[in-house]
Amino acid sequence: MNDTYFISKAVSLALKGKFNTRPGVNVGCVIVKNNKIIGQAFYEKYGGPHAEINAINQVKRKYKKNFFSKLTGSDIYVTLEPCSKKGKTGACVDELKKYDFKRVVIGAEDPTQNGITNLQRAGYEVINLENQQCLALNKSFFHKAKFKKPFIRAKVAMSSDHKSVFTSKQRKWITGIPARNDVQKLRAEADIILTGSGTINEDSPSMNVRTKKIIANKNFVQPARYVFSNNLKLNWTAPFFRLPGKKVVVTSKKNLPKLPQGISDISVMSLQNKNPISSKDFVKEISKLNINNILIEAGPKLLGSFGDHNLIDEYIFYISKEKLEDKALYFYGGSKQFNFFDNKLFDIVEEKIIGKDKKIILRKK
Ligand SMILES: NC(=O)c1ccc[n+]([C@@H]2O[C@H](COP(=O)([O-])OP(=O)(O)OC[C@H]3O[C@@H](n4cnc5c(N)ncnc54)[C@H](OP(=O)(O)O)[C@@H]3O)[C@@H](O)[C@H]2O)c1
Repeated sequence: MNDTYFISKAVSLALKGKFNTRPGVNVGCVIVKNNKIIGQAFYEKYGGPHAEINAINQVKRKYKKNFFSKLTGSDIYVTLEPCSKKGKTGACVDELKKYDFKRVVIGAEDPTQNGITNLQRAGYEVINLENQQCLALNKSFFHKAKFKKPFIRAKVAMSSDHKSVFTSKQRKWITGIPARNDVQKLRAEADIILTGSGTINEDSPSMNVRTKKIIANKNFVQPARYVFSNNLKLNWTAPFFRLPGKKVVVTSKKNLPKLPQGISDISVMSLQNKNPISSKDFVKEISKLNINNILIEAGPKLLGSFGDHNLIDEYIFYISKEKLEDKALYFYGGSKQFNFFDNKLFDIVEEKIIGKDKKIILRKK
């Protein structure tokens, strides 16, 4: 068994923390002695002990008085460079330096830390595998570190003629249950779910995560729900506002109107008074916060505003086989005319069938 094998093991451990470590990263760790795994763990919840510490602690529990000699001469595999700065917990490099590891093998560099140099200066052999699986684990985190703004995805369910808004009130869904279940995973990956007042007022949505398997984990926290509204004429009785979880109204006003009873954990993000309020200003403000991933689930207007300003990194389309009636609206309401399905602007990074629908992911070039 080689480095690729053990780092893949660490990746599968990291994935156990998926959905539960936002806005933090997913990290897995294995400790290997004489080609045998003696400790393994992952980052389980935001603010909790890091994967490396959990793995070392597992060795301590397993080997009791002998743990130190067990760790001596072992290789520690971590999917992400160990942290060197004190954050919500102590710096992992300080803990690692207590032991005589033969090699520290990492899957990907952490551009926000200095763990590799720190360990090398202390005499450790550090190997960076630059492993693709490890880079994919924390795509939004790396994006934020590089571009200083969150990774912004837009999900759109649409008909075969690319319309996303019914004109008749009769029907609520364009796509089938499997596609909607898939959207639940996108939501669970997001730090923020963002919509516009049009969607709140037309659909009265919940926009929370409801998949039992995901929400059953005690470490799962619902993503914050943000809504853009300049005039604040919102359907405040929508489950979007009533369900538990953080809610934020993005507006040019300073305060919210008097709200009906039963709405808690709601605040205002006040932007400059422009009509409509600027999606660019929003991204500038939100980039100052610890937010890596935003999922937009909005109608043509808000989507158009973000798209026109080139703020969307990834479009996730769920396309049904049906056509909608003539009066139904095209999914994109911006003033720029994009040919989304021509590969000059976007790369198709995924295309698959989900139930009766097609899923296509387009990523900005
Ligand atoms: N198929 C799908 O995936 C999907 C997803 C979501 C929604 N929808 C459909 O979309 C329809 C609503 O579409 P919509 O376009 O009216 O709603 P929207 O894009 O969700 O919301 C638009 C509203 O957001 C507010 N807003 C504030 N700043 C804005 C800005 N910079 N740019 C754009 N809007 C801004 C404006 O209202 P204020 O006056 O309050 O500022 C505006 O009228 C619904 O029928 C819903 O079913 C479909």
